[in-house]
Amino acid sequence: MTPVGLPTTSIVRVTHRIHPSILNANLASLDDEIRRIPSADAIHIDVMDNHFVPNLTLGLPVVECLRANHPGIFLDAHLMIEDADRHAPAYAEAGCESVTFHLEASQAPIRTARQIRALGSRASLGLRPQTPIEPLADLITEFDMILLMTVDPGFGGQTFLDVMVPKIRRTRALVEASGQEIWIQVDGGVSEATIERCMDAGADVFVAGSAVFRADDPDAVIRDLQARAAVGCRGC
Ligand code: DX5
Ligand code: ZN
Repeated sequence: MTPVGLPTTSIVRVTHRIHPSILNANLASLDDEIRRIPSADAIHIDVMDNHFVPNLTLGLPVVECLRANHPGIFLDAHLMIEDADRHAPAYAEAGCESVTFHLEASQAPIRTARQIRALGSRASLGLRPQTPIEPLADLITEFDMILLMTVDPGFGGQTFLDVMVPKIRRTRALVEASGQEIWIQVDGGVSEATIERCMDAGADVFVAGSAVFRADDPDAVIRDLQARAAVGCRGC
């Protein structure tokens, strides 16, 4: 009998991580904002170019400054930009531990992933909500993480798309079948109210933007999300 809250499959997660997105932070005071969240497992940096998504945020120069100012922090770059093959490797060169680029913006995702890995970073593939995971079954071992958007990318503060939960579950099944340790990140609308259903479906890395930075005590929210994600996380 599976205890309540535990997944019914043979999922064994080696980790669960909370990556706060700074999109909803005060972007003019990033150093201070990052110091408010010492419990974060990484900083999720949303790079937007006003083409791939209808919003413009920050780019490589700011990422380089964050790297210099916060040498001990895991930087998780999420590139929502066109021409990913051309631009993504520079974020690895800048010292981001993880670089996510979108399949929909890439002509050569395997080559780009190999370049990112060769530069010493984790390579991650992002998928819009409407992009299926199944055709990628043979590709996922080229990546260290799959980012599943659980909102249409472009803005923080949107409502979690419940229709994405089966896709998280199917991605977990593909990862298990691959036999490799590939993180599954969910991004968009993740909060105290939605993290457990993502966890149950098989996600192990959780981006939370507005849930963290709109709170009076952002670090308390992170600790609460970490505790909730630990529910059902066998092997953590
Ligand atoms: C949206 C970004 C997300 C966003 C998450 O396109 O990729 O990282 O900042 O923000 P919330 O948690 O508010 O949905
Ligand atoms: Zn993001």
